[in-house]
Amino acid sequence: MNNLTDDQRQKLSDAALVARQQAYAPYSKFPVGAALLTDDGQIFAGCNIENTSFGLTNCAERTAIFAAVAAGIRQFVGLAVATEGGLSPCGACRQVLAEFSDDLPILIVDASSDAVVEVTTLANLLPNRFRREHT
Ligand code: THU
Repeated sequence: MNNLTDDQRQKLSDAALVARQQAYAPYSKFPVGAALLTDDGQIFAGCNIENTSFGLTNCAERTAIFAAVAAGIRQFVGLAVATEGGLSPCGACRQVLAEFSDDLPILIVDASSDAVVEVTTLANLLPNRFRREHT
C-alpha cells in the first residue's frame, strides 16, 4: 500500500520537517514533526507538545490526526514522521491512527539528512490490532 507519488512523498516529508520546527519539547529536547495527507490533497501537520506533567505530552502524530479529525477529515492516504535518527511512531499513536485507517503508507524521515529513510505501512507497524466494530 505504498502507492504515494514522488510528489506526495516530497510534500509529506517536507511538511513533517517543517512541523518539527514547531515542537514544544523543553523536557525531552526531542522534537518530532508529523504530516498527514488527506484523500482530498490537504496536509495536516503536528508536532509533539510536552507538559511539565510529563504524562500529558501529546505526540506529533496524534497532534496531526486530532487536527484533521477536528476539521472534519477522516480519510487519509499517507503519513510522514520526522525525527532525529528517523524513528518509528510509538504504539499509542499507531493505535490512534488505526482508528481512522485500516492501512496507511508511512514515511520515516531522518531530520539529520532530511531524507526518507524507511517506507512502511500502518498494518505492518500494528498487526493484529485491537479493533471493535461500531455504527
Ligand atoms: N514522540 C512523538 O511525538 N511521537 C512518537 O511517536 C514518539 C515520541 C515525542 C513524545 C516526547 O515529546 C518526545 O517524543 C520524546 O519521547
